[in-house]
Amino acid sequence: MSTPRSIVFRETDLDAIAAAEGWVAVFLPPDGRLGREARRVNRLAKGAIACFAGGRDFAKMKEGEARALACLPGLSGEGVIAVKLPRRADSLLARRAGGAIAKLAKRAPLLVLAGNHPRADEIALGLALRSYAFDAYKSGRGDEGGENGEKGEGEAWGEARVMVNAPEDVAARSVPLMALAEGVFFTRDLVNEPANILTTTEFAARLAAMHELGLEVEILEEADLEKLGMRALLAVGQGSQSPSKVVVMQWRGGAEGEAPLALVGKGVVFDTGGISLKPAQGMEDMTMDMGGAGVVAGVMRTLALRRSRANVVGIVGLVENMPDGRAQRPGDIVRSMKGDTIEVINTDAEGRLVLADALWYAQERFDPRAVIDLATLTGAIIIALGHEKTGVFANDDALCDAFLKAAESEGEGAWRMPLGPAYDEKLRSDKADMKNVGGRDAGAITAAQFLQRFVTEGRPWIHLDIAGTAQVKKDLPLAPKGATGWGVMALDRLVRSLCEG
Ligand code: BES
Ligand code: MN
Ligand code: ZN
Repeated sequence: MSTPRSIVFRETDLDAIAAAEGWVAVFLPPDGRLGREARRVNRLAKGAIACFAGGRDFAKMKEGEARALACLPGLSGEGVIAVKLPRRADSLLARRAGGAIAKLAKRAPLLVLAGNHPRADEIALGLALRSYAFDAYKSGRGDEGGENGEKGEGEAWGEARVMVNAPEDVAARSVPLMALAEGVFFTRDLVNEPANILTTTEFAARLAAMHELGLEVEILEEADLEKLGMRALLAVGQGSQSPSKVVVMQWRGGAEGEAPLALVGKGVVFDTGGISLKPAQGMEDMTMDMGGAGVVAGVMRTLALRRSRANVVGIVGLVENMPDGRAQRPGDIVRSMKGDTIEVINTDAEGRLVLADALWYAQERFDPRAVIDLATLTGAIIIALGHEKTGVFANDDALCDAFLKAAESEGEGAWRMPLGPAYDEKLRSDKADMKNVGGRDAGAITAAQFLQRFVTEGRPWIHLDIAGTAQVKKDLPLAPKGATGWGVMALDRLVRSLCEG
């Protein structure tokens, strides 16, 4: 697991700047006019800030970008991080600015002079989100630390002090934002963990530990799943030494008896493809195939941490897809909890088998007002949308629009994809009620059609195919490369707008 950087809000004290360790961050409006804090730094640094703000590099910088001005006179630390940010910045721009500071500061101590910037809380959130490093397995022997501030020799995070004019006020506003960051980190940690550590058992244990936050957590074991008739889900895990599990997390912050929103996640802790084995090249990336379950877990954590006034249930199917003497074979026919039979043409199309039973269970038990499932479901969605946007499939325009709006407000890319009976026909099987693949064409859509067969008539439902967005191979403004935590913020916002009035 990662260790987060600690961020504290303090009263502005201009006399503390000269002796500050590490970096001092100052905000400059696009017109280059120095505010109170920047003027003080400028005086200490013998005019270097005014010179920079009047120069060509500053003129070319985009809003939300930052530059490091190292080794300035009058400062005992590393230097100044100059950030171009207008006072009227919206929350996304302010987060980007915070992220830009974090990227430049790496692990060094940091003094952020936010003064009376109206978005100081959002700047701090961006700073927190970008100050993430999955460094649990960096032993720090001789390694100097990489560009993202990975652990160098014994290096810990320096403290980040954010100086503002009304620290109590800003700290109070940042409480729900830091709950959000914690949820995102929880998701990133789960997604980044290798599969020898994050087995189904370890995953379930980490979810059970959220009991202490006030979540009700139940773990359904294989015998329970067998009794419920979840043969589709169990078939995926039957080649693995790790037992299949379904974990149910309930947050009841809303009105007693009010139908919950259900979040359902694909939690394939490793996807070898099974007997339909994947090629070796890139197979290591399949440690992230539990990304849907990771997002569900992160959202539940955030809701609990900020004591959300909503009823939300999170259900994750935890399995490992391995080839083995007991593994399911291509051609096997399994009966789902719903009762429909499935011909398993390709054991690598396993996520939909897991979700079929998890979706059905969620609806049977909780009769939710809406269901949203998340899954690293298809390579096809990456072909369609790349790593920029999640594929959004929905049977309900109002719910879909609400989600797309929430995602946009949080800066998380999402794009609606079509559904339709012509796609559904590709799932017809000669021997069973359906087969689990619909051919190469429109692979992300036929996968969504498969899931829709396990959603009851008239129930609002969204399927989010996060295969491209759960993990990326380049740094993002608010995350170093690796697990992104995509979706935690959008879903938290959707819960606010949909369930918290
Ligand atoms: N977990 C994969 C999808 C995936 C691919 C996620 C790349 C992240 C990155 C899924 O289980 C899978 O193997 N899907 C197959 C479906 C096919 C067999 C119909 C795919 O996309 O190739
Ligand atoms: Mn697969
Ligand atoms: Zn998979």
